[in-house]
Amino acid sequence: MSVRCSIPAAIAAATFIGLLGAPVFAAGSPQGRGPDLSTGKQLFDASCSGCHGQDASGGQGPNIQRIPATLGDEATAKIIKSGVPGTGMPAFAGLTDAQAMQIVAHIRTLANAAMGDVATGDPDKGKAVYDANGCANCHIVDGVGGNLGPDLTGIGSLRPADFIRLELQKPGENLPKSPVTGIAIGKWTEYLMFRAVTKDGRVIEGMRTAESTLEIVLEDAKGNFHSLHKADLKSLEKEPGKSFMPSQTSLSDADLNNLAAYLASLKAAAQ
Ligand code: HEC
Ligand code: HEC
Repeated sequence: MSVRCSIPAAIAAATFIGLLGAPVFAAGSPQGRGPDLSTGKQLFDASCSGCHGQDASGGQGPNIQRIPATLGDEATAKIIKSGVPGTGMPAFAGLTDAQAMQIVAHIRTLANAAMGDVATGDPDKGKAVYDANGCANCHIVDGVGGNLGPDLTGIGSLRPADFIRLELQKPGENLPKSPVTGIAIGKWTEYLMFRAVTKDGRVIEGMRTAESTLEIVLEDAKGNFHSLHKADLKSLEKEPGKSFMPSQTSLSDADLNNLAAYLASLKAAAQ
C-alpha cells in the first residue's frame, strides 16, 4: 500500500484513543444488539474520515470501502483496534468490540451507497437460478450440496451483492480471503489452483489443500485428492486467476442480479 500518513502513528493513536474514550461515544452503544449505525457513523466521522475520507473512499489513508466485504467484519474490527504497525494506521485500542463493529457496519453502508443500487435482484427468483444452474454440485447451502467450492450458507454476512455478482462473472479473480466460508488452511490463499507435471508426464491440476517442504496435496475437479512428492515432479506452477468454478456468462443480467440477491440474503445465523 503506497499511501502513507504524515502524522506519526504514535501521536495519532494517542489523540484518537483519547477522543474515543470521551463519554459521548461510550453512551449510545448497547452491547449484544445489532450494530448501531448512527453511533458507527459518529465514530467514523470523528476518528476515521480525516484519513480515509467521509465516504471511506480514501484520502491520506487508502480506500477501505471493500475491506469488510473481503476480510470479514471481525477481521476488520481487529485491524481497527490494533492498527497496522509501522504504517500511518493507528491502533484504536480504546474502542470496545461493539464500537469497532459499529464502525465496520457503517463502512459497509458507505460501500453499499458507493456501488449504487446493484442489489435490485429478487432473492426468490435468484434461488430458482441457483437450483437450475448446478451450483449445488459444488456448493453447500444449509448442509445440502457438494463441497468442491466454499460453503455459501452465510455468504451474505460476508460479502455484498455486487461483489458476489463480480465473483460469479469472474471466478478465480477474487478468491475468497476469509477462512469463514472455506477450509481453513492457514497461511495460504484458499482455492488457489496449481498445475503439476510429474516426471513420468502425468498432469494434475487442482486446488492446494496442504503443502509441506516435500509434498503438496491437490484436489482435482472431481474432488479427488492427489498427494504428490515434489521430488517426483517435473514442474509445479501456480495458476492465479483460475478456478474450477465456471464463469456464469450465459446468465442474463436480470438472472445475475437475482442470483446475487439470493446469495446476499444468505446470512449466517446469529450466535
Ligand atoms: C492518521 C490517519 C488514519 C486514521 C485516523 C485512520 N486510518 Fe486507517 N489507515 C491509515 C493508513 C495510512 C492505512 C494504510 C496502512 C498500510 O499502509 O497498510 C490505513 C489502513 C486501514 C485499514 C486496512 C486497509 C487494508 O487495506 O488492509 C483499515 C480497515 C482502516 N485503516 C480502517 C480505519 C478506521 C475504521 C479508522 C477509524 C477508527 C481509521 N482507519 C483511522 C490511516 C488512518
Ligand atoms: C465445478 C464447481 C463449481 C460450480 C458448478 C460452481 N462453483 Fe462457485 N465456486 C467454486 C470454487 C472452487 C470456488 C472458489 C474459487 C473461486 O472463488 O473461484 C467458488 C466460489 C464461489 C463464490 C465465492 C465465494 C466466496 O466466499 O467469496 C460464489 C459466490 C459462488 N462460487 C457461487 C456459485 C454459484 C451461484 C454457482 C452456480 C451458478 C456456482 N458457484 C457454481 C466451484 C463451483
